Amino acid sequence: PRKIIIDTDPGQDDAVAILLALASPEDVEVLGITAVAGNVPLPLTQKNARIVCELAGKPDTRVFAGCDAPIARPLVTAEHVHGKTGLDGPDLPDPVMALQDQHGVDFIIDTLRNEPEGTVTLCPLGPLTNIATALQRAPDIATRIAEIVLMGGAYFEVGNITPAAEFNIYVDPEAAAVVFACGAPITVMPLDVTHKALVTAERNNTFRALNTPVGLAVAQMTDFFERFDKEKYGSAGAPLHDPCVTAYLIKPTLFTGRHINVEIETQSALTLGMTVADWWRVTDRAPNATFMGDIDAQGFFDLLTERLARL
Ligand code: BDR
Ligand code: CA
Repeated sequence: PRKIIIDTDPGQDDAVAILLALASPEDVEVLGITAVAGNVPLPLTQKNARIVCELAGKPDTRVFAGCDAPIARPLVTAEHVHGKTGLDGPDLPDPVMALQDQHGVDFIIDTLRNEPEGTVTLCPLGPLTNIATALQRAPDIATRIAEIVLMGGAYFEVGNITPAAEFNIYVDPEAAAVVFACGAPITVMPLDVTHKALVTAERNNTFRALNTPVGLAVAQMTDFFERFDKEKYGSAGAPLHDPCVTAYLIKPTLFTGRHINVEIETQSALTLGMTVADWWRVTDRAPNATFMGDIDAQGFFDLLTERLARL
């Protein structure tokens, strides 16, 4: 299995991404989960990460709290999408498992230094503050990263928090710029892909029909999360953004994309946080990321359902 660190701001879709990873030990070994401020403030994201580990029946998973605010800006949150707790929908108990004492950024640095070079994959599902802070504090880790597989950005689908920017990149564009320039192999799941991973009514029923606490919680989470996208975009269901990252680690052939140059806008008030993706390769800027463009949505849901049924 690939060794991974999940960096996350749960978030219903983050929760499903974590569940998929914890259900798939033959494909991924979760070394730890680092929480970051994003959808809701850090005290809630670190707590939600622990709630999800307990829901999965994996209370031994190590959860660390990372940065509580972006590198250079005040935090922007998304309660309008995820609810007041960040995990609205199901009624899940407060976690009993402890939060680790170590800071999330230190855990990322230590893990990359202690594990053999090129064996640890980072999976950011929220703003890139923790990852960028680790890279700034310990530049030697960049060449030790196997791959960064992240959810963020958009090209044809442009923005969901501003007309030009996707939420994770917009919240901490300076951090995103550090990550995209770090030289490690990067794979990006942008809105172009995740807006195709929709939980339709039929798929929601499939989760519910698992008839397990996990199946029910996932159905209730996606029910809640769906409201925003339905009203806003007339979308046919809740987009499972972050689970695309963990699904890619398990079955990369579900996705297709292009190895291209992606730069982050950090200056313009109008387009702050835009992922300027050279999809048509019209510049000679060197490719720094594999930017996904399409997904086999039914294959993705079949995998997700099969794996969630194990928990
Ligand atoms: C991203 O923003 C968050 O609201 C979701 O959890 C996802 O990571 C989608 O833009
Ligand atoms: Ca997220």
